[in-house]
Amino acid sequence: MSIHKEIKKVTTHTLQKMKNNGEKISMLTAYDFSFAKLFDKANIDVLLVGDSASNVMAGHETTLPITLDQMIYHASSVIRGTDRALVVVDLPFGSYQSNSDIALASAVRIMKETGAHAIKLEGGEEIVESVKKIVSAGIPVMGHLGLTPQSIYKFGTYNVRAKEESEANKLKNDSKLLQEAGCFAVVLEKIPALLAKEVSESLNIPTIGIGAGKHCDGQVLVMHDMLGINTEFKPRFLRQYLNLADSIVDAVGRYVSDVKANEFPNDAESY
Ligand code: KIV
Repeated sequence: MSIHKEIKKVTTHTLQKMKNNGEKISMLTAYDFSFAKLFDKANIDVLLVGDSASNVMAGHETTLPITLDQMIYHASSVIRGTDRALVVVDLPFGSYQSNSDIALASAVRIMKETGAHAIKLEGGEEIVESVKKIVSAGIPVMGHLGLTPQSIYKFGTYNVRAKEESEANKLKNDSKLLQEAGCFAVVLEKIPALLAKEVSESLNIPTIGIGAGKHCDGQVLVMHDMLGINTEFKPRFLRQYLNLADSIVDAVGRYVSDVKANEFPNDAESY
């Protein structure tokens, strides 16, 4: 019997057991109560309240503008819709980079005010001290390496990261540092599949890939991309499971026509 089928509540320990047993981890982003409830019902292992909310919920071009208060609002909505999944919340840009005391204070706010189970932050060596401090306070931390969207203005593009040997070596070293600092898992975003394989095999903790190939211990996608709500974003790594955009536009179009033609509501829909 797979751990996934047996488990009533996913914890960081469950994810470690999945890696040890060779069972892949499923993770999706969620930002609100209703979708979290549906994803939880579908037995997703991990729900990530990603700072991608800045893009897909608020319409910003980057993840930089979203605030800690806004992340807390999204995370508490997700928590209310979740019974089984582990809920991880992104620390937004500016809420942890300046020093480890501020990072801890931000992580504590998320845990206290949302009821979430873990936090995620982006970066390697530069944020290791913060990871250690947050973990020592009893808060589980997920790392995030490779393409780290909060640093988009440093990279300049959303292209594949760590193709060059020096960047690949830094990523390998960072992944070890994050594991030593106490991270329970690491997201690997948009890096070559062979590098992700090497990192996944060298770490004891699980890796969760997005655009990082099939050898990671789990996979994550942004819900608006995989459900086809956001149809303009079509990177090679994305598998679109639904075309919700067309279904919604069609349904709303039919509703508009019915209202205009005075065909909605009918007698049976009236009091
Ligand atoms: O914010 C987010 O959605 C993420 C995933 C892409 C991993 O960090």
